[in-house]
Amino acid sequence: MSAVKTEDSASGVSVVNSGGPVYEDKEENDNARPEDLSELLAAGTKLVHEQAENTQFVKDFLHGKIRKELFKLGAVALYYTYSAMEEEIEKNKDHPHFAPLYFPNELHRQEALARDLEYFYGEDWQSQISCSPATQRYIERIHEIGREDPVLLVAHAYTRYMGDLSGGQVLKKVAQRALKLPPTGEGVFFYQFDSIHSNKAFKQLYRSRMNELELDANTKDSLVQEAVRAFQFNMEVFKELEEMGKTIQEDVLDGGPIHGHMEGDVSKCPYYAAKMAASGGSAYVYQMAAAVLRNPTGQVLLAAWIAALAGLVAWYLK
Ligand code: HEM
Repeated sequence: MSAVKTEDSASGVSVVNSGGPVYEDKEENDNARPEDLSELLAAGTKLVHEQAENTQFVKDFLHGKIRKELFKLGAVALYYTYSAMEEEIEKNKDHPHFAPLYFPNELHRQEALARDLEYFYGEDWQSQISCSPATQRYIERIHEIGREDPVLLVAHAYTRYMGDLSGGQVLKKVAQRALKLPPTGEGVFFYQFDSIHSNKAFKQLYRSRMNELELDANTKDSLVQEAVRAFQFNMEVFKELEEMGKTIQEDVLDGGPIHGHMEGDVSKCPYYAAKMAASGGSAYVYQMAAAVLRNPTGQVLLAAWIAALAGLVAWYLK
């Protein structure tokens, strides 16, 4: 289907007094009828939407409090989610209850996410990522409905694509600024809908396509319930990321600004390794093991060897 081209007034970014960016205000649609699917979905997910907005992970992200390791894991979760959703959409693209919403050029995100992951993890990104338990539960549901009740894909597509089109530009800018990503878009291709000229106009088109689907009241009701479920799956992923965030020691993992004025990966310094292991940091031993697995060069192996030795000495002297 061809790209929709209309003028977009703004990206939707506004800044409140607290300094945090927010999405643009909710659009009013005067022509809407209460029985329209778009209205039922918006009303039926209002509460769960508020809950999603209030998860700690989302609030932190909106305030630019996002660390690179966690952002990368978020992109991984999105990659698995969109791969599953778009696989099922492809299989059901001719289904009369989905065909009018089939916009692969405009909406599909799998390729953009693959490019982001290649930027973050390098060429062999596929061998470095894995699907988290919360994401696994989400994608299992997507595959289940794709097989057994494809009309419900509408609810999942609505929850993700309409949400992305509503807040994408804001989140992109927040991420670029917080993570110092290049202005050329690497790492945030996911948020960029190159074939959509106006997010606002596209969302209107998508809503009208949803409203034209021939669905009875029961099916509409099931769609609202499924959309609530889709929001809940997303919140589960956010909660999981929040938990993972507590275990990530970003400064060590990312070779951050520690170790005097030296640049580069501090874990490669044998003296730093010995000092950390001797001070009894079990987290450090884990970090070191991870570093060896990631980068088994002579320097890191030497550092790991000295760390182990120093650990033994420290244990003996206790
Ligand atoms: C702090 C976080 C969030 C804020 C401030 C926010 C805010 C908004 C706003 C103001 C709109 C209305 C835009 C419009 O009418 O065009 C919107 C739409 C939407 N958002 Fe969010 N959102 C947040 C998080 C999420 C999350 C986590 C999801 C789902 C994973 C989501 C899914 C949606 C969907 C599906 C819509 C379309 C609603 C409709 O027009 O029917 N949002 N969001």
